[in-house]
Amino acid sequence: RNPEKERLFEANELSAKLYHFLLKNTEHGTEAMKYLRSRGMNDKLIDQFQIGYAPDRWDTLVQFLTKRSFDLKEMEKGGLLSARHEQEGYLDRFRGRIMFPIHDRSGKVIAFAGRILGEGQPKYLNSPETILFNKSRTLYNLHQAKTSIRKLRQILLFEGYADVISSWEAGLHNGVATMGTSLTENQVAIMKSLAEEVVVVYDGDKAGMAAALKVIPLLEGVGLRVRIALMNEGMDPDDYIRKFGAERFRHVVESAVSTTKFKLIYLKKNHILLEEDGKIAYTKEALPIIAALNSSTEREVYLRELSSELHLSYESLKQDCNLLRQSMM
Ligand code: GTP
Ligand code: MN
Ligand code: MN
Ligand code: MN
Ligand code: MN
Repeated sequence: RNPEKERLFEANELSAKLYHFLLKNTEHGTEAMKYLRSRGMNDKLIDQFQIGYAPDRWDTLVQFLTKRSFDLKEMEKGGLLSARHEQEGYLDRFRGRIMFPIHDRSGKVIAFAGRILGEGQPKYLNSPETILFNKSRTLYNLHQAKTSIRKLRQILLFEGYADVISSWEAGLHNGVATMGTSLTENQVAIMKSLAEEVVVVYDGDKAGMAAALKVIPLLEGVGLRVRIALMNEGMDPDDYIRKFGAERFRHVVESAVSTTKFKLIYLKKNHILLEEDGKIAYTKEALPIIAALNSSTEREVYLRELSSELHLSYESLKQDCNLLRQSMM
C-alpha cells in the first residue's frame, strides 16, 4: 500500500463526484448541460460516464480539497491543481470544462479529460502523467467495456471519448479509446489479453485513416485479428451516430472490412482509375499489399476484385503478383 496513491485515488474520486454534482445540480452547470444536450447526451449517459463540469473559477477544487485537508502540493503533483506563477499557492487545473473522468481497469478514477465548451484551444485538456495515470497504459472506458469485451472477444477501438460514449448509447459496450496519443505496445498487450479481434473505428478523415493504417501492424503483430470500420467522409463515430442513428452505425461496425481491403481503399483515393496512368499507378501500389499475403486463397480473392474493378485480366495481375512475391522472398 502506498499512502500517497491512496490519497490521490480518494481526491480523484471526490473531485469526480463534485464535478458531476456541479454539472447536474447547480447553476454552474447550466450552460454545460445545455451543451451536452445539444450533443445528444442524456442523463443516463451522463451518469454512466460520470461526466461533470469544472466551473470557470480559479478555486473550486482548491477550496474543496482544502476543506477536506488534502495537501495542495500533493494535489498539484496529482494533476488536479496547478501551481500559481506569480505568487505562492495553487489554482484549479481544470476551469470552465466538461469533465470526463478516466478510470483504471478496476474502475477507480485516475485522471480527467476536460473539454472546452464549444470552440477553443486546447479542445481537450488532460491530466498530466502522475503516480496513478500512465497514458500509455490506459484505455478509456476499459473498466466498463471489459465485461462485453470478454464475452464477445472483440474490442472496438475509437479515437475519442465522445465516440466511446455515443457508441455505448448505440448499444455497443465493448468500446475503448486512447487518450489522443498513438496506440502503444502496452495498450496492445492489454487488448490481446482480453480479445481476439479489434475493430478500428477511427474518424473518417485523413488523419483518422492514416492513424488506422498505423495501428494495423501493431495489432496484427501480436496476433489480433483486425478489421476497419469505414466511416463516411469526414465524420467521426459520434457524428455518424447523431446523423444516421444507432442502427446504421452498428451496421457500419458489423461491415468493417479486412485490413487488406482497407489498405487498397486507402491507396485508391489517390488515383483516377478512369485514366490509364491512374490505373497502372494504383495497380503498382496495390500488388505489393496483395503479394505480401501468405494465403493464396486470400491473394486470389483480392486479385479477382482488382481484376474486375480495373477491367484487367486476372492472369496478368496474378503473374505480376507472383513475380513480386518472388522478389520479396
Ligand atoms: P469532440 O469534438 O468532443 O467530438 O472530440 P473528438 O473526440 O471528436 O476529438 P478529435 O477527433 O478532434 O480528437 C480525438 C481525440 O484526440 C480526443 O478524444 C482527445 O482524446 C484527443 N484530443 C483532441 N484534441 C485535443 C487537444 O486539444 N489536446 C489533447 N491533449 N488531446 C486532444
Ligand atoms: Mn445499452
Ligand atoms: Mn479527428
Ligand atoms: Mn473525432
Ligand atoms: Mn467528435
